[in-house]
Amino acid sequence: VKKIAVLTSGGDSQGMNAAVRAVVRSGLYHGLEVYAVQRGYAGLINDDIRQMDLRSVGDIIQRGGTILQTARCKEFITPEGQQMGADNLMKRGIDGLVVIGGDGSYQGANKLSKLGIKTMGLPGTIDNDIPFTDYTIGFDTAVSIVVDAINKLRDTMSSHERSSIVEVMGRYCGDIALYAGLASGAETILVPEVPFDLDEISDRMETNFKLGKRHSIIIVAEGVCKGEDIANEISRRKDSIEPRVTVLGHIQRGGAPTHNDRILASSLGDFAVRMLIEGESGKGCGIIKGELTITDIEKVVNTKKQFNMELYELAKRLSQ
Ligand code: F6P
Repeated sequence: VKKIAVLTSGGDSQGMNAAVRAVVRSGLYHGLEVYAVQRGYAGLINDDIRQMDLRSVGDIIQRGGTILQTARCKEFITPEGQQMGADNLMKRGIDGLVVIGGDGSYQGANKLSKLGIKTMGLPGTIDNDIPFTDYTIGFDTAVSIVVDAINKLRDTMSSHERSSIVEVMGRYCGDIALYAGLASGAETILVPEVPFDLDEISDRMETNFKLGKRHSIIIVAEGVCKGEDIANEISRRKDSIEPRVTVLGHIQRGGAPTHNDRILASSLGDFAVRMLIEGESGKGCGIIKGELTITDIEKVVNTKKQFNMELYELAKRLSQ
């Protein structure tokens, strides 16, 4: 490849800017021309493409969001949209593309690779729902935000001897709930991957309060149900418990990325460029046990990420 482009797509995540910076600077370091596409696949269709230099990505490593902006583009799902996107790259002689995003973004990259563009996917999502990588870019920051919020909730819940239900993002994946729950000492972690019994949970809460526990935190992944529904179910079972619900929402997607996310994004961004130079295409990049890896996107999008049951059991053992 001689000319490559980079875009961010789907829901944004902290560290996307660090990844864009790494792709641009690594590309330039290796003597490539580097372009950026604005607003994800929508920009690819609308030909919103500009050339980047070293300074175009200055002062962004610490910023949340994405300077390239992002979109969930319906038009790109159609073969016509995909062809238009590929044509806009080809007419500039751009033969490589790094796509930073989640599942849907990977599918788009796969289609483009079949149309002759060499593509690499970088896992950019707070959800940590992409297989063949231990972590996605943004996950670490999102978990830190949830942990920080729960620290704050604990203060006020203890004062009032209350229980708190915290609804977190993650789409169909329970990782944000699991990691934040373990790190914040939540009493109960509800994730879509593991069935649970609300009778048992309500009884345990009641007993714990009677035994002198001053607060109880339940963390609910959005893939399970709304936090409000869990609160209603618990107070219906126990008159003495009136949980307060906090929905953290898009707060989880904002703010400066943690150093872990910046390092992950920098390593993966540089790796994606090197893989393109080596002639790879249609691959998703990841990090498994500290090692950078590539996997066929086809395989990535057709595999469900395995839930870390060991960590879940650990959280359960420690939250007695
Ligand atoms: O994929 C990231 C994510 O934040 C999910 O956790 C959440 O379900 C979804 O995006 C929210 O999407 P939107 O920003 O379009 O409301």
